[in-house]
Amino acid sequence: MNKNKKTIAAITAVAHYVPEKILSNLELEKMVDTTDEWIKTRTGISERRILEKGASSDMAAKAIDQLLKNRGIGPEEIEIIITATVTPDMLFPPTSTIIQRKVGAKNAWGFDIEAACSGFLYSLIVGAQFIETGNYKKVIVVGSDKMSSITDYTDRNSCILFGDAAAAVLLEPSNDENIGILDHIFYSDGTGEEALHMKGGGSLNPPTHETVDKKWHYIYQDGKAVFKVAVMGMADVSEEILKRNNLTGNDIDYFVPHQANLRIIDAAANRMGIDHSKVMINIDKYGNTTAATIPLCLSEWWLAGKLKRGNTVVLASFGAGYTWGSILLKWAID
Ligand code: UT7
Repeated sequence: MNKNKKTIAAITAVAHYVPEKILSNLELEKMVDTTDEWIKTRTGISERRILEKGASSDMAAKAIDQLLKNRGIGPEEIEIIITATVTPDMLFPPTSTIIQRKVGAKNAWGFDIEAACSGFLYSLIVGAQFIETGNYKKVIVVGSDKMSSITDYTDRNSCILFGDAAAAVLLEPSNDENIGILDHIFYSDGTGEEALHMKGGGSLNPPTHETVDKKWHYIYQDGKAVFKVAVMGMADVSEEILKRNNLTGNDIDYFVPHQANLRIIDAAANRMGIDHSKVMINIDKYGNTTAATIPLCLSEWWLAGKLKRGNTVVLASFGAGYTWGSILLKWAID
């Protein structure tokens, strides 16, 4: 538990933004051969949000504007912005620098991290390490994904799953060595490429008429294959972090899983022996928002007054790569 480190990073503010437009299961019934019943029972999703105008940076900037208000600080105090996204505004420049301009964080530098659904967790630890060096005092980590920009709304296998959202946290040095980000365990397995990817648009398959015709600029997922490894990966890594810290499910106040499928979440929570009431779930309202799911849960639970300073929290994710991991923290905001 970071015994040798002088400084511990803590989340000292949290905020989110979701677009107004709602895409319901009933509307999807009119677009592809699916039913509300199938989507709810197989995934737990009832509706998702769609950003009609703008890009990932616009959602991130709105979340950060609110974050700064919540903390009562100005944008010029921010030193670093780290953005987790699979839907950057453009391949370059970094979306973080676009966000920096939009929020007026003129003293900040920044960069993006692409680790799919684990992007926020990986970014949170990268950000925390800048704080732990003692060289930085205010780092923003934001997860923002406009999944609708890479979703094929003629493919019923995938279009029912995804939504758009952004959520951000502020990291600062903790004023209590027992509160903050305490431990993490991360994994990657590159054999996952085949089951979950977007083939086109990168250096392997630059955009051509052919890549467009083949729908290579959309998410491809072999759902069944990913489902099996996601259940195992998320449950194993969450159990591992509990064991390593001599904790059981009973010691945890909240389990915050990546929101990809309610059945994956339930299986992981059962394996950890965590009561359903301690599991943050909002997949019903937002679907899978990739890098935004976990901070979006934290923000909603904090706003509702349910997440309190001193709460023991386990975050866990599984996504494309494959990438997966868990983080143990003690919540720092009153
Ligand atoms: O966030 C990144 C990580 N991603 C994940 O963790 C996602 C993991 N995978 C999943 O969540 C699930 O596999 C899905 C929700 C994507 C699919 O659920 P499933 O229970 O694995 O269904 P399936 O793909 O095995 O499909 C079962 C049946 C198929 O029909 P047949 O072949 O049995 O006749 C599909 O064609 O359901 C059919 N189906 C649908 N039916 C109605 C697939 N999509 C739909 C749909 N509506 N939208």
